[in-house]
Amino acid sequence: MNRISMNSRRAFLKQISGAAMVAGMAPSILTWARAQEQVIPFPNEDGMILRSFRFIDLESPVEYFNSFLTPVPRFFVRNHMHEPSELDAAAWRLEVGGEVEKPLTLSLAELSKLGTHSVINTLECAGNGRSLQRPQVPGIQWGKGAVGTARFSGPRLGDVLQRAGVKPTGKHVMFRGRDEVPGKVPPFIRSIPIEKALDGDTLIATHMNGSPLTKHHGFPARALVPGWIGAASCKWLTEIKVLDAEFVGNFMSPGYRFPNHPVNPGDAVKPEDTHPLTALTVKSVIAGPSDGASLKAHQIVVHGTAWAGEADIAKVEISTDGGIHWNAAKLGHDQAHYAWRLWSYDWEPVKAGDYTIQSRATDSAGRVQPATPVWNPSGYLYNAIDEVKVHVS
Ligand code: MTE
Repeated sequence: MNRISMNSRRAFLKQISGAAMVAGMAPSILTWARAQEQVIPFPNEDGMILRSFRFIDLESPVEYFNSFLTPVPRFFVRNHMHEPSELDAAAWRLEVGGEVEKPLTLSLAELSKLGTHSVINTLECAGNGRSLQRPQVPGIQWGKGAVGTARFSGPRLGDVLQRAGVKPTGKHVMFRGRDEVPGKVPPFIRSIPIEKALDGDTLIATHMNGSPLTKHHGFPARALVPGWIGAASCKWLTEIKVLDAEFVGNFMSPGYRFPNHPVNPGDAVKPEDTHPLTALTVKSVIAGPSDGASLKAHQIVVHGTAWAGEADIAKVEISTDGGIHWNAAKLGHDQAHYAWRLWSYDWEPVKAGDYTIQSRATDSAGRVQPATPVWNPSGYLYNAIDEVKVHVS
């Protein structure tokens, strides 16, 4: 694995903003530039796309979505602040407290004695696809690649909570990570309801695809809340606290909330008319052919992936005539409860020309990808029917 050190990473980021300043670019111009969906490959990160100058936010090109498990160097990274500069596995401790009978402090060795359970989970950032919302909304301008699938392993969160003995007053479980919080930025703290925390598939993950977590993904331990937005799965975990109510803080409100009712694109929403985001919705993405491709073949394999959070993918359909006719794609053999399904469709265009290929997923709960995105002021859960434009000659 070819990874660059934290220092050279910071130097690179400094270099970019330094270069911008030398060129006389004011911060507002930088903000503007960020919104223009520019694609900047991050050095030595296996073709990953850098989406933010300030902290490390890396997106996978959709062309990478051709394997059931995403290799770790190709797995997106979403950081709200600086990654911890010091991570010493021997000194690491996890505090478990709050509404429990017996507060605990666990070392990594003690944690690993609490058993290992594996869950193959598709992790998607709630903001994935934000750049496609119209009108555009502020925030990291993710394309379609802030999503990946990995086998996460570690003890069940429920077993750890059971050891501590949750009191009847325990209603929510809060996670705190070891991020380095710059200036006035509020710490990344969120909570999940006790029912999801006690679910047998919710983990304190120490491994990803069979290897210890890398620093980008939360070494030495992270929460893994399967089927839910990525923000639920706190990285670099240091504290688990059982609360008698939902945690109150910036990343629970106003962050990561969704309007209770449909909103006209561009309209403001009152905080009291919103609820916290939980499970992911139904979605498919075309991994190939690439948008803008010029194709000569008579037989073209359209392929991609589809996922539905806590539900399963029932079908994926493909249209090559602007949504008039839809044909079923073949679903891949690999499947797991919270994981995406690869799919493919053999297409034989009858004549040369320009085509728009569209993909539409339906899940086991009957949800169907909508033709138009469900707009909301933060651009969360973008899941409109996917499309690529190609030329066939
Ligand atoms: N945990 C901490 N401590 N700090 C963070 O900034 N980002 C969250 C979540 N956990 C975050 C975090 C968000 S928004 C997402 S989408 C996922 O981590 C991304 O996980 P990944 O970087 O391993 O892909």
